[in-house]
Amino acid sequence: MSSPHPIIRLENLEKTYDSGGSKVHAVRQLSLEIAAGEFVAVMGSSGSGKSTLMNIIGCLDRPTGGKYWLDGDDVSLLNRNRLADMRNMKIGFVFQGFNLLSRTSALENVELPMMYHHSNLSPRQQQEKAMQVLELVGLGERADHMPNQLSGGQQQRVAIARALVNDPVLLLADEPTGNLDSRTSIEIMGVFQKLNDAGITVVMVTHEPDIAAFTRRNIMMRDGLVREDLPVLRRSTALEELAKLQGGDYVPAAPVH
Ligand SMILES: Nc1ncnc2c1ncn2[C@@H]1O[C@H](COP(=O)(O)OP(=O)(O)OP(=O)(O)O)[C@@H](O)[C@H]1O
Ligand SMILES: [Mg+2]
Repeated sequence: MSSPHPIIRLENLEKTYDSGGSKVHAVRQLSLEIAAGEFVAVMGSSGSGKSTLMNIIGCLDRPTGGKYWLDGDDVSLLNRNRLADMRNMKIGFVFQGFNLLSRTSALENVELPMMYHHSNLSPRQQQEKAMQVLELVGLGERADHMPNQLSGGQQQRVAIARALVNDPVLLLADEPTGNLDSRTSIEIMGVFQKLNDAGITVVMVTHEPDIAAFTRRNIMMRDGLVREDLPVLRRSTALEELAKLQGGDYVPAAPVH
């Protein structure tokens, strides 16, 4: 069996912002590989370079130095248009604030990215595909609801379905549970775990160690560099954590002596 090929390969990646004469080294000489099928949390304090790194990985921005291979293609030197093509083809994004169109049903929100994608599916096939991914995230029966008729967790499921509909090689999420309560956050991590178990590569930014514990690998950034890169040895599973919450108020009786 061949080992999984890297979806992301960064070599001495740099991003330096030039703001009015003073330079900010947001990412410095960062080298990293993420293989197909991984589930990675990127952590680190505010200003450590997480979003800068995610924007480059997501082909939203270009590095000022170093190399980036995405799914085997060197994308470090692509111009803005080619970078946008690469992004549309290869990457699905999930954001903290869901970013759904408000007067548009869940199903139509999910269909939308297919319109920008040079897809050879007929409108009917596109609708079927959108329905399939909605079912995958457990929201099939809410397909005709508008975003304001859905809970926060359900809206985030729609956003995840939308990110998946063009079959990206990589799912990127920036604080996907940042606007959700703890129970709903666990449910959303359950959705990501299910997708990852099905082979989808997921990279997400989070500030919360509890949330990072649902992934398989934790990368800690500091000052634009990777300070720590560790496998998650005792992974939380959504099912177990939800069961614990269920008994959250339960206090075992003190042993009788
Ligand atoms: N467009 C920009 N121009 C100049 N400096 C920038 C720009 N974007 C980010 N920076 C700087 O780069 C550094 C890294 O910022 P970045 O947004 O990547 O941090 P972060 O880890 O995502 O932080 P947070 O947890 O607060 O979201 C910071 O010092 C920030 O001020
Ligand atoms: Mg950020």
